[in-house]
Amino acid sequence: MDPSQVKIPPMKDQTVDNITDNVITINSLCEDERMKYILERLVTHLHDFARETRLSGDEWMTGLRFLTEVGQICTDVRQEYILLSDVLGLSILVDSIDHPKPKGSTEGTVLGPFHTHDAEEMPPGDSMSHDPKGEPLLVVCTLKDMAGRPIEGVKIDIWETDSTGHYDVQYAGREGPDGRCIMRSDGSGVFWFKAITPVPYPIPHDGPVGRLLKKLHRHPYRPSHMHFMFEKEGYDHLITYVFFFFLDIGDVANLRSALYLRNDPYETSDAVFGVKDSLTVDIGKADAEIAKKYNVPEGHALLTYDFVLVSDEETSQLRAHNSKIALDKLGRKVKIVNGLPIPDLD
Ligand SMILES: [Fe+2]
Repeated sequence: MDPSQVKIPPMKDQTVDNITDNVITINSLCEDERMKYILERLVTHLHDFARETRLSGDEWMTGLRFLTEVGQICTDVRQEYILLSDVLGLSILVDSIDHPKPKGSTEGTVLGPFHTHDAEEMPPGDSMSHDPKGEPLLVVCTLKDMAGRPIEGVKIDIWETDSTGHYDVQYAGREGPDGRCIMRSDGSGVFWFKAITPVPYPIPHDGPVGRLLKKLHRHPYRPSHMHFMFEKEGYDHLITYVFFFFLDIGDVANLRSALYLRNDPYETSDAVFGVKDSLTVDIGKADAEIAKKYNVPEGHALLTYDFVLVSDEETSQLRAHNSKIALDKLGRKVKIVNGLPIPDLD
């Protein structure tokens, strides 16, 4: 592109009040309409943020230095920007907006920074963990659609930490994937495997995001959980995980008891805001029938969960519905259609 041939719209003399219009004007030649819209709104909110907080030059330089450090610590296996997005609640917000879930379906949550693409496909019943110190756990799940029909052939990506609360990628000498696997649901929508009982762990907090949390008097811990990601054409991509409740005493009928609250201090203060009520589960025990069927000792720790996936079409309808409500709440008389605002005349 020859810069001399670009007809840049004229800007006005720069003032605190017209700088926003000027930036939007000079960006207006962008041919990607969605990008232009996102930049327009980003600049508007950024500028209003500075006007509202009366941001000083020193404060903005502190912010820029912080963002620089966030970038500098990133590597192939450490993604500090995802962590930053997570601890600011933006990751869970974006997922909830982009992948809304109707009542009755499994809710999504944040991806987190520890997913990798090298997990290997595993046959039913194999163990995804090779940590001898972990407490063995049998996991038996079903996968259905909103009408209760089993979904076959879904690719399920699963990952968890070892018994010390570390993902495999956090070890310098990592030779291959551990604590992660790929599974496929069978004709009954079932997938099952062996794992270890998850434990709470801190997000990496030796970098700029950790220092931010410390300054805010926030701890870096996440409650015990296991990650699941589901993919099948025609169904909305689902990233979720289940949180574990632990009971020291009592039977499984009292699962939602206050005992858990005493035993797990992180349930209501997850550093990355991932916990949702519908995703909390209890560790049960394999009865004689389950033990025989899945070849584990009776009383073996057991996790069962019924996942419900929604179709792309169901998600798309709900996304449009939610978009109208959200913009109305913001007092904007537009609705978003194909990523762009149009006047809302309904
Ligand atoms: Fe995690």
